[in-house]
Amino acid sequence: MNRPTLTTSAGSPIADDNNSITAGERGPLTFDNYQLFEKLAHFNRERIPERVVHARGSGAYGTFKVSKSLAEYTRADFLQIVGQTTDVFLRFSTVGGGQDSSDYARDPRGFAVKFYTQQGNYDIVGNNTPVFFLNDPIMFPDFVHSQKKNPRTNLPDPARMYEFWANHPQSLHQMTILMSERGIPSSWRHINGYGSHTFSFWNHNNERFWIKWHFKTNQGIGCLSADEAAGLPSHGAQQDLVEAIDRGDYPSWTVKIQILSEDDARSFPHNPFDLTKVWPHDLVPLIEVGSLELNRNVDNYFAETEQAAFAPSNFVPGIGPSPDKMLQARLLAYQDAHRYRLGVNHNQLPVNAPVCPMGHYQADGQMAGMRQSEQASDVNFYPNNQGESAAPDASTAAPPLALEGSVNVCPHSQDGADYFSQAGDLFRLMNDDQRTDLAGTIAGGLNFADPDVQKKMLEYFFEADPDYAYRVRSAMGG
Ligand code: HEM
Repeated sequence: MNRPTLTTSAGSPIADDNNSITAGERGPLTFDNYQLFEKLAHFNRERIPERVVHARGSGAYGTFKVSKSLAEYTRADFLQIVGQTTDVFLRFSTVGGGQDSSDYARDPRGFAVKFYTQQGNYDIVGNNTPVFFLNDPIMFPDFVHSQKKNPRTNLPDPARMYEFWANHPQSLHQMTILMSERGIPSSWRHINGYGSHTFSFWNHNNERFWIKWHFKTNQGIGCLSADEAAGLPSHGAQQDLVEAIDRGDYPSWTVKIQILSEDDARSFPHNPFDLTKVWPHDLVPLIEVGSLELNRNVDNYFAETEQAAFAPSNFVPGIGPSPDKMLQARLLAYQDAHRYRLGVNHNQLPVNAPVCPMGHYQADGQMAGMRQSEQASDVNFYPNNQGESAAPDASTAAPPLALEGSVNVCPHSQDGADYFSQAGDLFRLMNDDQRTDLAGTIAGGLNFADPDVQKKMLEYFFEADPDYAYRVRSAMGG
């Protein structure tokens, strides 16, 4: 067989890759070992910072197909025509653990989808839960610190988790989901995905709608008990996904949205931009709009899955943010994280690169020119007088957002909101066994917490449903 020649990274042929050059058979290395030095130097730089959250994950490519035109609600060009398809990359993840943790942690799951549209990349950076622990981003770093390992012992520490939750009643809804049987998914394929936030759609008439994204797994929801999870290899979900796609058993999701008009949002029973709450389906029904299938594994985990850079700020004309405070902060946080983790030109990496024509005047920086066509050659400023060069298109602007009432700029406390009804509704949806399991799982962690934390949590459970508090207290042995 005619094998290609082994080379340095600069393409120069290598004569011997098994023996370093030494002065004599038993002598020291010499300075002309430049091939050895290159090999060792590159090896020293193989790691980049892991994501500060969602460090452990799996990714795959696939296709999104429209089953209902959304032209009435949005001008986004990938949502116009029934049957239209768009390539996607999806990364699943756990949240709190590092890259060395298990696929089967009790943890929310990230569900991040990049749509490679003809108007740029559109990212939905969601979770497998429709709500989140917080509704103000200023709490996010404290929240993450409290959920990760204890900095002194470097061990998981449930007392710290509950201490945070006891100080933040807005976490109760998501915490109830996390401690329920859905808290440990059996694989990446057996979870739903949610955009979680409220987003805006606007159509060609510049009419705005508020929407939420739902991805319903066609594999069925699969969950594990803590005992079942403990018996599985830490990489089991990665293996399950790769093997399913390799054998042609492509996982898929039915994609749905909820739509609320601007008027209906004003009279909605709760703040429709509060990420700790769902939009009840009887008030805002789900509308099926398409399907998503994963059908191609990555060729190189590091280059593609690890270097994938999702950003909630990656919008396309016709889709934009809402005033959800959490989402607003995420518009800044992700690109900032990517500049640190991957560098300023992360969007030139193949997995992140848009597939549409590009035109911008951002220049230089580390690793610039991975996509030659992207770097301006002669005109690198705007405005300019060169008719052929890229210029803004005012027609892609979002309609103005009306601020309502007398707008005062100050920290707005959301402490008075009702954080108990929806957690109680979820509890009442559970059957007897599920309630017992939930209470047992909570007790398992809450027993480690200080008495004042336990007392506070029991008050919250009681507000949600007296039976919720009763069961947790009994499971705690009280
Ligand atoms: C203020 C709130 C939040 C902040 C500041 C924040 C920040 C971050 C940061 C810095 C990363 C790492 C990004 C990287 O290095 O590539 C990340 C990853 C991620 N976050 Fe958040 N996050 C927030 C809330 C949320 C919420 C509410 C969700 C879901 C509804 C979410 C879903 C994700 C997902 C799925 C990833 C992993 C994306 C991937 O697969 O690469 N985050 N977040």
